[in-house]
Amino acid sequence: MKTRVGVLSAGRDCPGINSAIHWLVNSALDKDLVPIRGTMFEIIGIVDGWKGLIEVKPDKKESVKRWTTRLDGNIVRTWDRYGGTRLGTSLVNPFDPKKDRSEKVVQNMKKLGLDALIVIGGFDNLGVAYKLFREGVKVVGIPKTIDKDLSETDYTLGFDSAVNIITHDIDRLRITAGSHSRIFVVETMGRRAGWLALAGGEASAAAIILIPEHDFVIDRVIELLKMRKKEGKRYSIVLVSEGAKPRGMEEVHERRGRDGFGNYYLGGIGGFLAEEIEKRANMEVRYVALRHLQRGGSPTAYDRRMGRKFGIAAIDMIVNEDFGRMASLSHGEITSVPLKKALEKLNLVNVEKFYDTKDYKSKDQLL
Ligand code: F6P
Repeated sequence: MKTRVGVLSAGRDCPGINSAIHWLVNSALDKDLVPIRGTMFEIIGIVDGWKGLIEVKPDKKESVKRWTTRLDGNIVRTWDRYGGTRLGTSLVNPFDPKKDRSEKVVQNMKKLGLDALIVIGGFDNLGVAYKLFREGVKVVGIPKTIDKDLSETDYTLGFDSAVNIITHDIDRLRITAGSHSRIFVVETMGRRAGWLALAGGEASAAAIILIPEHDFVIDRVIELLKMRKKEGKRYSIVLVSEGAKPRGMEEVHERRGRDGFGNYYLGGIGGFLAEEIEKRANMEVRYVALRHLQRGGSPTAYDRRMGRKFGIAAIDMIVNEDFGRMASLSHGEITSVPLKKALEKLNLVNVEKFYDTKDYKSKDQLL
């Protein structure tokens, strides 16, 4: 018996995706496991996420070659150490209300002979996976997003690499900030979740951390900065998440339009805040948005390990016929959870537990 499994990465790229693919292919093609599993596997990589499953013409050889690729140990041998996604990705939504192409996905999967599908995605694209599951497609999910905003898992691929990038970039900024006695406002990604800013701020000891889950007051930010100056601190780093906003204001969207899932593009709050501080406090401020640098580079050791664990778990879930579920890290152990549960709500920072709303930093005390 042979089981043909498709794998795709959908939505934004991040470090760790290639590691997951590397390890799921190696696990699936492990000959020693065939007698235990009772099946052999064939892994078909789908190019550019859902777009590949929509565009492919299964009866045309050239098109199949363009949109799919048969993966083996040799092809994915070095993938675990590279960031991004070697399969490519897109923001195409098969359930786009303006043009629903989900039926095409189901039909093309059938025509390609795919028995099951592994979807490496965040909230929106695991949402697509769940809808397809409800239509009878055998799917399993692997969580990935630097935002770490998926519920029912303690980890999503890419987060640790992004936190490391923020930390190292702030180390660089400290040098010039200190030399000039300047304030630096640094903007992180993270969409509606403050995890990236909070963890990046903790790791880099930022003076002030502003997150979307708690609206801040600009004058309080200035007060805190002045206090630091009085204490003799030459410079300050203010880390602001792209989704954070001053009390009474809307989020800042520098880029117009929405993505395939109807989400606005966030970004620009850092620039706004830097200007306001300069205007109101007569302090010298510079602004840096880390933007896509946070998704670049190679995966950290942790992302490689988690890619390995989630990748292998995805194959085990298929063997166990645990469809409609997502690989998950829970209290240090790898497990799987129903996609339905993971998609009930976004995993946002619990302000009461983790955030100091007076001094705009993480709450570190035990009490
Ligand atoms: O969801 C990941 C993420 O990097 C968000 O933090 C950010 O808001 C968004 O994607 C950026 O999207 P794009 O790559 O389309 O500009």
